[in-house]
Amino acid sequence: MSKAAIILAAGQGTRMKSALPKVLHKVAGLPLLGHVVAALKGAGVDRIVVVTSAAGEAVRTYAKGLGAQCAIQQEQLGTGHAAASARDVLADFSGSLLIVNGDMPLVTSETILECLKSQSRTGLALLAFEAEDPGAYGRVLLRPDGHLNRIVEFKDAVGSERAVTLCNAGCYAADSQKFFRWAAALNNNNAQKEYYLTDVPHLARIDGIACAVALTDEVSVLGVNSRAELAHAEDKFQDRARARLLKDGVTMTAPQTVFFSHDTVVENDVEIEPFVVFGPGVTVKSGARLRSHSHLEGATVAGGAIIGPFARLRPGAQIGEDAHIGNFVEVKNTVIEKGAKANHLTYLGDARVGEGANIGAGTITCNYDGFTKAKTDIGAGAFIGSDTALVAPVTIGDGAITGAGSVITKDVAADALAVARGKQIEIPGWAKAFRERQKAKKQAESK
Ligand code: UD1
Ligand code: MG
Repeated sequence: MSKAAIILAAGQGTRMKSALPKVLHKVAGLPLLGHVVAALKGAGVDRIVVVTSAAGEAVRTYAKGLGAQCAIQQEQLGTGHAAASARDVLADFSGSLLIVNGDMPLVTSETILECLKSQSRTGLALLAFEAEDPGAYGRVLLRPDGHLNRIVEFKDAVGSERAVTLCNAGCYAADSQKFFRWAAALNNNNAQKEYYLTDVPHLARIDGIACAVALTDEVSVLGVNSRAELAHAEDKFQDRARARLLKDGVTMTAPQTVFFSHDTVVENDVEIEPFVVFGPGVTVKSGARLRSHSHLEGATVAGGAIIGPFARLRPGAQIGEDAHIGNFVEVKNTVIEKGAKANHLTYLGDARVGEGANIGAGTITCNYDGFTKAKTDIGAGAFIGSDTALVAPVTIGDGAITGAGSVITKDVAADALAVARGKQIEIPGWAKAFRERQKAKKQAESK
């Protein structure tokens, strides 16, 4: 049966105090909305409509990039009103419809499927969870048969209702046609003068349809309304990523200090030392070792490679098998081939470092003249002396050597030595004579 979803993302997100729409704030480098879309797609939902405000151009652009459709909620009159705004876009759809808050970044495909499973039993379902601290979540009041009695929003709740710890997660499933009928019949007789989605089950009951309550864990459905909750969601995402990788056979000596991106791929038997940070787009193959305080983004690291301590891999860094990238080495848009080494204080940008080449301390590829980027090609087995400046475009042949301190502006042939620095001269006794001259001068002045 076909499945569609509405994601509610038109709210102002006032509590974020931000110029950026709430659902575009990121957890593990991915906007909140991106997390929700990914979970829905993973649950086999093929049609997704994101409800935005009229001003939400940035949200629409992002949503369309993910393959979703958009609907506009002209005025922010509440979650029920927001869901109803998707009616026209889904006019041709019949089947199961999910309605999901756009601010729950830890939601998983499994959780979504649970909600759908419960819906198939009664015709309507929502996700609920036992909250450690129920805060401002809507409270879920059950009937003796375990189905929903009603949801009461925190602002509308009286003392005894506020004491309830079973909370509404903000994810519902219903038959699409029926849902839009109920949503059209909502009113705003409540503390916030809003059309609450949470009143839909009441209207369903009038139609003889009970609302099933699917229980889920608190973390999977935590809602982000403030910066503190955003930080909390990030924390929980990281915990989940660490636990998953440990289970998959990754060694981490201090997992709490390692931070992952939403898309990080780390194979088994990778060793990660403390304080390693992953930006988006990183793949680390089995047998690699990431040493302390390294930062990686947009990079691939092959088996046997050692990165860091204190290394920085930027987008386009491809580190080959058994290669070493050491302390204070930055690599950008560069292929480091098998067994090559750059162990200290180096910048490699827009380059290829051939198999087994050795890059001495302080080597810089001068890849940018302020206008264009140029390429440096270093052959297999080449030896780049310490403090060499390679002025790109330039090619160093296989097995060539550059002398320490050279500024290399011309191509170097294979197996040649290139030295480009001032010649050393030596004047015997000059230093001693200099010192004596200076001393005599000082004495004459102090008299
Ligand atoms: C909502 C629920 C609450 C639940 C909680 C779970 C209602 C009335 N309350 O409260 O029961 O415990 O989520 O996190 O539904 N939005 C719109 N248009 C609007 C208002 C909101 O699109 O006019 C969107 C927001 O962008 C957001 C979602 O709906 O993604 C939820 O709105 P929010 O203001 O965060 O509701 P909560 O107060 O968290
Ligand atoms: Mg919320």
